[in-house]
Amino acid sequence: MEREVLFRIRRFDGEKEYWQDFRFTARKGMTVLEGLYFIKENLDGSLAFRASCRMGICGSCAVKINGKPRLACETQIFDVGDVLEIEPLDNMPVLKDLIVDMDGFFRKHEAVKPYLIRKDDDYENPKELLQTPKELHAYYDFSLCIKCGACYSACPASATRSDYLGPAAITAAYRFCADSRDEGREDRLALVSGSEGVWRCHFNAECSEVCPKSIEPAKAIQKMRLMSAIHMIKSIFR
Ligand code: SF4
Ligand code: FES
Repeated sequence: MEREVLFRIRRFDGEKEYWQDFRFTARKGMTVLEGLYFIKENLDGSLAFRASCRMGICGSCAVKINGKPRLACETQIFDVGDVLEIEPLDNMPVLKDLIVDMDGFFRKHEAVKPYLIRKDDDYENPKELLQTPKELHAYYDFSLCIKCGACYSACPASATRSDYLGPAAITAAYRFCADSRDEGREDRLALVSGSEGVWRCHFNAECSEVCPKSIEPAKAIQKMRLMSAIHMIKSIFR
């Protein structure tokens, strides 16, 4: 099955922003990313967008489709409709067309130390760190984040406070704080409990709604809030 569709794309050339319409014949099963490639290869080679894996793994192709952040490679055109408005993600500066500058997003991610911290790290004599299935289950779902930025784009707190860590970074912090092998919880909680941390969240839960991996960042934020509250009470009595 084939039919004509309209892609209305919000573009930016470094100076001005404008909308441009592209009409083409799409076939059943064609993804939004394939539509973008079709435009680039056949209608306007100057169109800029990011993509790599084309299979929902790398997180590079997130854009807003009819107002909602989604992965272009996982969204079929006919599931959206005949008219698709495609825009860059929100809450990050636009570099060109659909490409946003994700440096700030990744700096926040880096700030929460998203790796296992061990006091006894000995790379010369590594030792096995065993976990029970229950211990794995405590953080596993939150380890599936592909850093696409969809949650960050949908987050109203990130829209109003550029220093707010945002849902993806807090989810990464929780993923490691909840890991039985990790010993870096105190370091992360000092940051996550601060003015740029969990207490900035308005709990709209839009992050969970748009996450393409069904990770529920809003749940991670609530769990980090509990850890943060316990951390703050403990620090009063220290
Ligand atoms: S939590 Fe979900 S929406 Fe946010 S960056 Fe990770 S995969 Fe993307
Ligand atoms: S291209 Fe990798 S997630 Fe879409």
